[in-house]
Amino acid sequence: MEAVTEISRRRFLKLMLGSVAAAGLSACGGVGYVTQVEPHWPALERLDVRLPGLPPHLDGFAIIQLSDLHRGPEVSAADIARAVRLAQRQEGVDLIVLTGDYVSRSAGYAPSCAEALAPLVAGNVLACLGNHDHWTDADTVAAALAEVGIVVLRNAAREVADGLWVAAVDDVWERHADLERALERVPAGATIVLLAHEPDYADTVAADGRVHLQLSGHSHGGQVRVPFLGPLVLPYLARKYHAGPYAAGGLRLYVNRGVGLVAPAVRLNCRPEVTLVTLRRAERG
Ligand SMILES: [Fe+2]
Repeated sequence: MEAVTEISRRRFLKLMLGSVAAAGLSACGGVGYVTQVEPHWPALERLDVRLPGLPPHLDGFAIIQLSDLHRGPEVSAADIARAVRLAQRQEGVDLIVLTGDYVSRSAGYAPSCAEALAPLVAGNVLACLGNHDHWTDADTVAAALAEVGIVVLRNAAREVADGLWVAAVDDVWERHADLERALERVPAGATIVLLAHEPDYADTVAADGRVHLQLSGHSHGGQVRVPFLGPLVLPYLARKYHAGPYAAGGLRLYVNRGVGLVAPAVRLNCRPEVTLVTLRRAERG
């Protein structure tokens, strides 16, 4: 009897969620909106991240983040180009970072993704890899990005301004992340921004204590966010942290909703995103 009651409850909850989602779709103009409008309509999200101990010369350092391009059957080069143009329209950008998942289903899409991202390479572009890059062919994807001048960091780090380092772990889901290796060249006292595709890795990073800010993607924000209920479906390693800014202990975390998506190719209340992160000195209390 207990099991039957539990199944009934689950079915009831699913029906409830389905009804609310259907109401949401209708309210926003139906299926055409979630397939033809919102997935192709990137939004710029701006945020200031206040970091304790940030040196004065880094106050105002501006980073553009793009994530989850997913060039493939569901995402065209034109979708990526639209987000790239939005990024290019921002002034005073010091650095561009990409937080993984460049393709879906085949690494054969990687050159097309890299080509669409290439206009950004006039500046410094650093990238980490994601689970879909590994599920296709991580080396092929990384090579295509490198071909257009994007610096792919796989458990490695690079100094981007005096005292500011960007480190990146390789994919967490596929157990390629090695935080120790990623940080081994970073000098003590540096300000560290970590690129890690899967946001829930933040708990591991926070426990380590060396990183100041983690930038992630992977969740796509859930793609469908029902008002008052939030995302209906979230992937493994994006269930605790799925969109926007968070604090994980002393670590600041930002989760980007992505440019592309995976099937089913719908977005509701969860537009594709380009993020402009500005580092700020935290006021000491
Ligand atoms: Fe993704």
